[in-house]
Amino acid sequence: MPTSPTGSSTRVAEPLRETAAWRRLEWHHAEVCDLHLRGLFDGDPSRGERLSAEAAGLHLDYSKHRVTDDTLQLLRNLATQRRLQDQIQAMFRGERVNVSEGRAALHVALRMPRSRSVVVDGADVVKEVHAELDRFIGFADQVRSGERTGATGRPIRAVVNIGIGGSDLGPAMTCEALAPYATSEIIVRFVSNVDPADLTEATRDLEPSETLFVVVSKTMTTVETTENAKAARAWIASALGEEASGRHFTGVAADVAAGARLDISPESMFRIWDWVGGRTSLCSAVGLSVAIAVGGERFRELLAGFRAMDEHFASAPLGANLPAISGLLSLWYRNFFGTQTTAVFPYSHALRLLPAYLQQLWMESNGKRVTATGEPVGLDTGSVLWGGAGTNAQHAVFQLLHQGTVLCPADLIGFAQPAGDAAARHDLLAANLLAQAEALAFGRTEDELREAGVAEETIPHRVMPGNRPTSLVLAERLTPATLGALIALYEHSVFTQAAIWGIDPFDQWGVELGKELAARIAPELAPGWKHELHHDSSTNASIGRYRRLRDGK
Ligand code: F6P
Repeated sequence: MPTSPTGSSTRVAEPLRETAAWRRLEWHHAEVCDLHLRGLFDGDPSRGERLSAEAAGLHLDYSKHRVTDDTLQLLRNLATQRRLQDQIQAMFRGERVNVSEGRAALHVALRMPRSRSVVVDGADVVKEVHAELDRFIGFADQVRSGERTGATGRPIRAVVNIGIGGSDLGPAMTCEALAPYATSEIIVRFVSNVDPADLTEATRDLEPSETLFVVVSKTMTTVETTENAKAARAWIASALGEEASGRHFTGVAADVAAGARLDISPESMFRIWDWVGGRTSLCSAVGLSVAIAVGGERFRELLAGFRAMDEHFASAPLGANLPAISGLLSLWYRNFFGTQTTAVFPYSHALRLLPAYLQQLWMESNGKRVTATGEPVGLDTGSVLWGGAGTNAQHAVFQLLHQGTVLCPADLIGFAQPAGDAAARHDLLAANLLAQAEALAFGRTEDELREAGVAEETIPHRVMPGNRPTSLVLAERLTPATLGALIALYEHSVFTQAAIWGIDPFDQWGVELGKELAARIAPELAPGWKHELHHDSSTNASIGRYRRLRDGK
């Protein structure tokens, strides 16, 4: 078996395009690409029930996809040829699947039971995970109970998470999603942008003596986070004095000693590991704000939901494996229909931040142009993910999905029971979810419009072509466990696609150049800057224009 330079024995070296499995899919696509979902359903009464799967409390209906049984078999053959299941096992075993950074990607270890063991570099990471989990959940529960107070002895009433990217999006989305489970005694807010307006707005109505900042940064070098943390410290110090800040700051980082740079003592730091990527770090101490909001017990339920989906992904056969099915369908559209985007519409106000969260997971992971071994991939990889909450999105973007010229597969996510006690109108919300899936798939024909008495001249405008694919994810209720399973479903769908493309979904080198250039430009914007600029003529001119506009010259 060919091995990669890093020693992983699970990746297949043969260029994807040249594999028999890929060629067969290309031929097959030419045969089925014009089939309409109307025809596929008419000829197959059991399709709606048959093309569905269930795991970890989530039901996935994928019958409204432009696939036949042969398509699904050929996609599974492709996954088998690319050794998807071996690649999954390699990730779970702690192999260095993050090839370009020479690391394991062990977010699944963050939610393994205590009884498991995964050894990386001689250390049992599951043991370390549980030790840290107990520590930060214990801290969260102390904050909630009022045992952990601020410097003046007053209880903590507001928690402000300072972090960006994976150190913000996951906890922020989860706090919104689990709001019905959260204590009303403590407000949790999130500050991410280096724009001072973010911190100012978040702290405007807060009482410093009752505020705890949670500074989250795996590297503790991210400038947005370190600058916001310094500003927050100044805010506390000006109200309570320099010595008080220790009681009002806690941090999360890979190197706990790095907290010292922000005057956060090691005892107030929680540890993550370099084998956790930012975008998959929610189950670590990065979720501290969530644990404070919902409490340790609920946080553990969230982890249990993740774990249930992890175990399903690692063990279910491909034909019944939700993340594998979902990833293979995404790849089918991306590579064979040439779709550029993927949409996600949670029919849940509580999940309105899910698309933003998934954007980082999906686009930072699979926005790659070379394989894990550094060769050009030679075909399209990650799509653009976007979306919004239903029903709002229906009144803003669905027109294009229904009648535009772009094909965009969409995930529609819903719940049978309302979250909390907001029961009113829930059936109406669900009716919209189901109606959109139906309308996108089947549309409305000229004949149907004519039969309904629609004026002839408006018929072309009102025809709905249909054949727009959707997945419908339905769960009983948005609980911590359901949310965990849902997030893990997307994590593993992303992994499935990457495993087939042969790319490294765990690095993000593409974000570095912008950071370097920003660090170079920042001093060039300073009023005292006297040196010549050495950028391109556009950037030089924009720097000059910015300075003149800022200084009113
Ligand atoms: O710049 C991208 C990135 O590295 C993300 O991958 C990460 O989630 C984010 O920045 C924040 O990084 P950190 O947690 O190290 O501050």
